[in-house]
Amino acid sequence: MSGPSAAPVIAIDGPTASGKGTIAAGVAKRLAFNYLDSGSLYRLVSLEAQVAGVELDDEPALIAIAGALRPEFVDGRIRLDGQDVSDQIREEGIGAAASRLAVLPGVRQALVDIQRRFRTSPGLVADGRDMGTAIFPDAKLKIFLTADVQSRAERRHKQLIEKGFSSNITGLSRVLRDRDNRDANRAVSPLRAAEDAIVIDSTHLSIEQTIEQVLGAWKAIAGGAVRG
Ligand code: DC
Repeated sequence: MSGPSAAPVIAIDGPTASGKGTIAAGVAKRLAFNYLDSGSLYRLVSLEAQVAGVELDDEPALIAIAGALRPEFVDGRIRLDGQDVSDQIREEGIGAAASRLAVLPGVRQALVDIQRRFRTSPGLVADGRDMGTAIFPDAKLKIFLTADVQSRAERRHKQLIEKGFSSNITGLSRVLRDRDNRDANRAVSPLRAAEDAIVIDSTHLSIEQTIEQVLGAWKAIAGGAVRG
């Protein structure tokens, strides 16, 4: 559905650990919109591939996994085949492998419909790399969220430690840089700001300040109610 009556979309794209997920979920909550974490789909393919022993360059097998993916998103948790995999898919190895298989055009294509099905009333906040450029090019508001690599590494480090994973900042910065390069330089749907995107640099902004900036941009476009 993308005609004039389609539910409005706020697309939030940006590099790894830019805070997209937290910001997008916060904005969705304030607007009572649905929320799509598109990176989780690539991570789910990555997890399934690992479990099945599928190599990351085996495009036909990865397309089959992506096409058969039937995740359930309930109360901020993600279940796959009845199992809660929310924490498992956050592991850095799963993310790095997700970035590698995300270069494959067939895998991206196999995930298009599942992403567009999230677009239901009263609206959708979608976060990822290509929400504003490829999946929802008619999004009413497009945000490109960045932060410098050092502060992204610090944020990710904190998140991993809180979840009980081991982590070190120097290694993380390197991993983030590699992932940025791969995501930005792939041939299909590379990470880049849509021409009509508003760029927000969150390096010196708190989560709440960043959410307010997005909501401010939304109000300017759409008017409407925002929960306090
Ligand atoms: O946002 P994330 O770190 O959970 O995403 C994991 C990987 O998935 C990311 O490195 C690239 C890929 N991805 C993508 O190619 N397109 C998206 N819309 C979202 C994620």
